[in-house]
Amino acid sequence: MIPQSFVQDLLARVDIIDVIERHLPLKKSGANYFACCPFHGEKSASFSVSPTKQFYHCFGCGVHGSAIGFLMEYSGLSFVEAVKELAAHAGMQVPDDGKPGTSAHNDTTEKLFEAMSAAARFYRDQLKHAPDAVDYLKRRGLSGEIAGRFGIGFAPDEWQALQRTFPDYQSKHLAEAGLVIDNDQGRRYDRFRHRIMFPIHDRRGRIIAFGGRVLDGGEPKYLNSPETPLFEKGRELYGLFLAQKAIRDASYALVVEGYMDVVALAQFGVENAVATLGTATTPHHINTLLRHTERIVFCFDGDAAGRRAAWRALENALEVLRDDTTLAFLFLPTEHDPDSFIRSEGADAFRKAAVNAMPLASVLLQELKERCELDTAEGRARLIHEARPLVTRISAPMLRLQVIKLIAEASDMTQTEVEQAFGIKPATPARAGFGNQDFNRKPRTPSPPRFQGRRKPPSAIGTLLRLVLQHPAWAARLPVDLVPDESAEGRAMIAIVDLVSLGEPIPAGGLGALIERFRDTPHGETLSRIGAELVDTEFEEAIVETLFEDTLRKLQADAIAREITELLEQSKLGSLSAADRHRLGELLLEKRNLAGAGKVSDL
Ligand code: UTP
Ligand code: MN
Repeated sequence: MIPQSFVQDLLARVDIIDVIERHLPLKKSGANYFACCPFHGEKSASFSVSPTKQFYHCFGCGVHGSAIGFLMEYSGLSFVEAVKELAAHAGMQVPDDGKPGTSAHNDTTEKLFEAMSAAARFYRDQLKHAPDAVDYLKRRGLSGEIAGRFGIGFAPDEWQALQRTFPDYQSKHLAEAGLVIDNDQGRRYDRFRHRIMFPIHDRRGRIIAFGGRVLDGGEPKYLNSPETPLFEKGRELYGLFLAQKAIRDASYALVVEGYMDVVALAQFGVENAVATLGTATTPHHINTLLRHTERIVFCFDGDAAGRRAAWRALENALEVLRDDTTLAFLFLPTEHDPDSFIRSEGADAFRKAAVNAMPLASVLLQELKERCELDTAEGRARLIHEARPLVTRISAPMLRLQVIKLIAEASDMTQTEVEQAFGIKPATPARAGFGNQDFNRKPRTPSPPRFQGRRKPPSAIGTLLRLVLQHPAWAARLPVDLVPDESAEGRAMIAIVDLVSLGEPIPAGGLGALIERFRDTPHGETLSRIGAELVDTEFEEAIVETLFEDTLRKLQADAIAREITELLEQSKLGSLSAADRHRLGELLLEKRNLAGAGKVSDL
């Protein structure tokens, strides 16, 4: 654990503008800095960074966070790694709090990375001395240049070849990295033998695993590293590190099944391809890619297995779809995979096919229609039955509406009937902008937020929380017993007040630091969501003081009203005690005084 006090000192020292500017060019406009969002493909600058808040937000795709959050998201770092990187730039030493685990853990991670890159060097080197392996790659049409770019190597046909590059072959790190296997007799041998080796990189280009292909018809065809502290299969995509730039340039990402597909496509100049690693495409994979681009084209093998993989990918995508993204499927002729297709038809034919790939909704509908005989009542009923669990999972409201309309048409029902059958409320189009709570807020962004969705005007507590996030010191002015704890915003507010009343200093590193303080607590989400909102639109300074006072009065009025109602209810049931009657009189007086103070009715 890194002590919270260190994180706070660090955030007080670094400037989020410098941190982000090391990775992206920022342009100042008004109070904020802007860039094209690095987390989704776009041409206009929706990504804004607030120097006063020390927080960033993209109103295109919604990403937001502090300087630490940015490094985690952008460079794929863990929290600890991001803190270390920031500290290194700020010339600060990350303290070790002496608790076992973390620092030892990081040492281990470092050791594992070292082992992986030493092994990769060794395998690459071995390829030079293995004419049969070089022959195999040539037969498959790979150029030396492309083999070099992907770091392809060769594991010789020996039990302990790695001993030649690891003097300490018995080191526990080799087993932890998945490079060797210990058998029951305590003998250790290389996991990968007599295989073409494909290193798998993380988003920062560090080697986290290998895939090894046999040269002949042996089994299994591909042997992959086991899951290790460095490698979690369902999260990683083969080739992403090398493809990142090409994905942005081409404005779409290709997802294929195999190592060889990625490599062959790259050799033919289609460099924006990645592969899942012998697993189905997971929602995590899709989200990772959607940070780089708005369009994903799945191109699986033309055989039955490839079609099944496409359907699995479609099912897994439903919950992460957004209305500003397109997922499409390129179905190859049965006999082809992307590797063989591009070799036989060429890059232009492949690119053309990718452009014309079938959008997800069409694939969904086509498949459903194929499953049901639509010229019978039973078949049309079945369509509804089969469509329901899929359509209700579509997270993009407008796309879902479109699909519902198509299903209504195909099943000879009305849209309302389909919606009723699915048990869902009809979608209403999102209003652009904020709506009317906005009259006293000043938008700071050059163009209006696009994907805010429908936002209710904030409640009194919501307003108060936003004001306190804009002026954290005001937390000390809040009577905590007035804050109702029914809502997440109320509970977050109480947590901030508690912090202040316990004597913890208000974070000096802006709103970003305050929000970091609540990372991994139940309030983290709520606070960072509101922080993101405040980057784009905050209350005008001229009115904040009055608004704060008014909102406090409103909370007070609410509390009084609640108590009055309770006492009146009670008086209906029986007579009130003398003390209760006295209290009621006091409350009614307070209510009049508050109303006399005005303003409350405006809220
Ligand atoms: P394919 O069999 O389609 O492989 O498996 P490929 O990439 O086209 O390989 P070549 O062209 O025959 O050399 C697709 C992917 O499934 C995983 C690998 O990631 C492979 O690239 N796989 C396949 C395994 O993990 N193990 C296997 O035994 C086979
Ligand atoms: Mn293949």
